[in-house]
Amino acid sequence: MRWTSLATLVAPAQAALRFGCSTVSIQRLDPVVEPGSIPSAHLHQIVGGNAFNASMNGDIGNQGTCTTAYWTAVMFFKHENGSYKKVPIMPNAALPNGINGGMTVYYTQKDFNNNGNQKITAFKPGFRMTVGSPTTSSLDQAKGHAGLRFVCLSDKNTRFPELPDFPTKPCKGGIMTVHHFPSCWDGKNLDSPDHQSHMYSTTKEAFAEAGPCPSTHPVRMPQLAYETLWDTAQFANMWPKDGKNPFVLSFGDEHGYGTHADYMFGWKGDSLQKAMDDKCMFNACENGKPLKSQNVAAMNACAAKKTVTENIDGWMDKLPGMNM
Ligand SMILES: *[C@@H]1O[C@H](CO)[C@@H](O)[C@H](O)[C@H]1NC(C)=O
Ligand SMILES: *[C@@H]1O[C@H](CO)[C@@H](O)[C@H](O)[C@H]1NC(C)=O
Repeated sequence: MRWTSLATLVAPAQAALRFGCSTVSIQRLDPVVEPGSIPSAHLHQIVGGNAFNASMNGDIGNQGTCTTAYWTAVMFFKHENGSYKKVPIMPNAALPNGINGGMTVYYTQKDFNNNGNQKITAFKPGFRMTVGSPTTSSLDQAKGHAGLRFVCLSDKNTRFPELPDFPTKPCKGGIMTVHHFPSCWDGKNLDSPDHQSHMYSTTKEAFAEAGPCPSTHPVRMPQLAYETLWDTAQFANMWPKDGKNPFVLSFGDEHGYGTHADYMFGWKGDSLQKAMDDKCMFNACENGKPLKSQNVAAMNACAAKKTVTENIDGWMDKLPGMNM
């Protein structure tokens, strides 16, 4: 998704942004955790940047027409017979019609309903981070990541309860994965060796107001969050007889404890800072107030080059890149 700001606006209060981003690619690439690896270890769905490739260095704001990149693992269904099939992604209800899969991206300040009154510092050119880890392997650890949750959907508007792991029964409206990133910055580093320690999480569940930033990470940045809606309907009549959850994340995680997400900042110029300095909420930030957004057709036309060519559709014996 591309945003450009109008040069004019500086207002005292702060904005909350929410927009849809269509899928630009589903392939095994990960320029933050495994730069240069073609393919990376596991499959990702990528939204945002059409300049997305295996090694994106520095300021990506001027590479490609759709810039910032957002990515997560992909969900698969595991049949009782051992075969896997990728779960399709569906668009969110609160967004314009016709978006091709993708995710909903939020840049909020305080909580869901209030855009707050504190200074929010936009991410800087070259900034990147991850949240969660594929190596998280226990329910207790997963519970500790308040921003990483699953929701069993009755319909596209269901938001509660938030679960630390996969739902254990069929969900009529699909499954939503939620990734809230940390929003307190150390004020110095655009990245860190583990892609996380330059940031500190004060996130609480379900867009509740975050706690204050600690002195080690004093700079409040936008609360970035992704929602992805997985359309599990076609698998409802294949639920395993033993009642076990049949869904698995693309790195082989059958519980969802290791759910994680990546972010690479690429807004043009100071457009994100301008938006954060405004007081608009969600759709009211569009149409030049202060942001201009792409229409759905332009967004769907954004695609990243396929550099890893392997079959990821239909029934498969193994997860792409995995020995399972
Ligand atoms: C990725 O794209 C950048 C420019 O956008 C280019 O400099 C780099 O060579 C590309 N890398 C790969 C592996 O394609
Ligand atoms: C498993 O079941 C699916 C759905 O019926 C089928 O398409 C697939 O070929 C089966 N795989 C094996 C290994 O039998």
